[in-house]
Amino acid sequence: MRIDVVTIFPDYLAALDLSLVGKARRAGLLDLRVHDLRDWTDDRHRTVDDTPFGGGAGMVMRPDVWGRALDDLLPADGPARLVVPSPSGEVFTQRRAEALATEEHLVVACGRYEGIDARVVEHYRDRGVAVDELSLGDYVLNGGEVAALVMVEAVGRLLPGVVGNPHSLVEESHGEAGLLEYPVYTKPPVWQGREVPDVLLSGHHARIERWRRDEALRRTARRRPDMIAALGEDALDRRDREV
Ligand code: ADE
Repeated sequence: MRIDVVTIFPDYLAALDLSLVGKARRAGLLDLRVHDLRDWTDDRHRTVDDTPFGGGAGMVMRPDVWGRALDDLLPADGPARLVVPSPSGEVFTQRRAEALATEEHLVVACGRYEGIDARVVEHYRDRGVAVDELSLGDYVLNGGEVAALVMVEAVGRLLPGVVGNPHSLVEESHGEAGLLEYPVYTKPPVWQGREVPDVLLSGHHARIERWRRDEALRRTARRRPDMIAALGEDALDRRDREV
């Protein structure tokens, strides 16, 4: 998969050289390129923004600069999808990450200030480009860079071969079960007087499975009742309902 990220702060994305995503890049599983939007400016001051029409606080990113950048990065007839992080977008979820992970080419446009002139998204949609305006959640960041980091990591780890043991993708929070993950423990078996739950040392796989499911259900009901409410009709069996 190829991902192009366009930003006025390319250094923000340096973290994507590290950890699993960095490894995926070096292994050739992810072709990630970070670009400086100012490379597409044409004035001495490398201006990317201007005052908003209609007045108001802050600055808006100019469509002409974004247009030159995106014309270069979005092939006219290619399969690229444009992702615009924005607090006014649809919510970025694990399902969205899974959908994006099936794409061949993403271009992520990081806005700053009050955002990007609205004609940019309209123009590329009219040209037939698929555009997703996506929000991390109900809070405001200073720009799209942190959201781009989150999205590239969430998508990158789903690419085949990136996470060593694909089973670890199956049972995690926000996976197919629609539940948060159960609590996990490792050595030592006693720490600060706290013991690891007996069942996990029992070697009894069916009982361990049941315990984990119960804990996931309890945790989800307590922390994310919205996720329980969103479960399908037959997501819970009789035994689940007793928890
Ligand atoms: N840019 C600013 N705030 C954001 C948010 N919550 N999600 C995505 N991009 C953003």
